[in-house]
Amino acid sequence: MNKESKYAQFYSELEALISEDDAVISSLSNFCAIHEKHFKQHWVGFYLLHENQLILGPFQGPVACTRIRFSQGVCGASYTQMKTIIVPDVHKYPGHIACSGLTNSEIVVPLIKDGKCWALLDVDSLEFDNFDEMDQKYLEEALTLLNY
Ligand code: SME
Repeated sequence: MNKESKYAQFYSELEALISEDDAVISSLSNFCAIHEKHFKQHWVGFYLLHENQLILGPFQGPVACTRIRFSQGVCGASYTQMKTIIVPDVHKYPGHIACSGLTNSEIVVPLIKDGKCWALLDVDSLEFDNFDEMDQKYLEEALTLLNY
């Protein structure tokens, strides 16, 4: 199945499951589980704004760093710039935080509500250059389901 078809299935499953009646933390958790089911990446999860830093939220994959400063890593940059960042080769990204030494590329997408970034989605791949504009487009669209 090609990537676009996977995203279509991923989105319809999310749409059916995500409900504004549920606590957001529960929906973030199920988002990770559904993403894992369709894409089987090395790591998928959220970092959440908490006071003056980003803290580890729901995820699927190996254990990860529990706190990230705004000035650190791809997550910090995505938070500060409030935009999606695609890193084709994490080893060439200055300041990249290697929670897992096995990751070779990643995408970080901010969740923005009322003009403020309140969380970040981070997807890590074992492959180099795994993410492109298609991932950005579909992930940004899927994440709007969580902005309630
Ligand atoms: N690589 C991220 C940190 C999070 S872990 O990869 C799960 C970064 O540089 O911000």
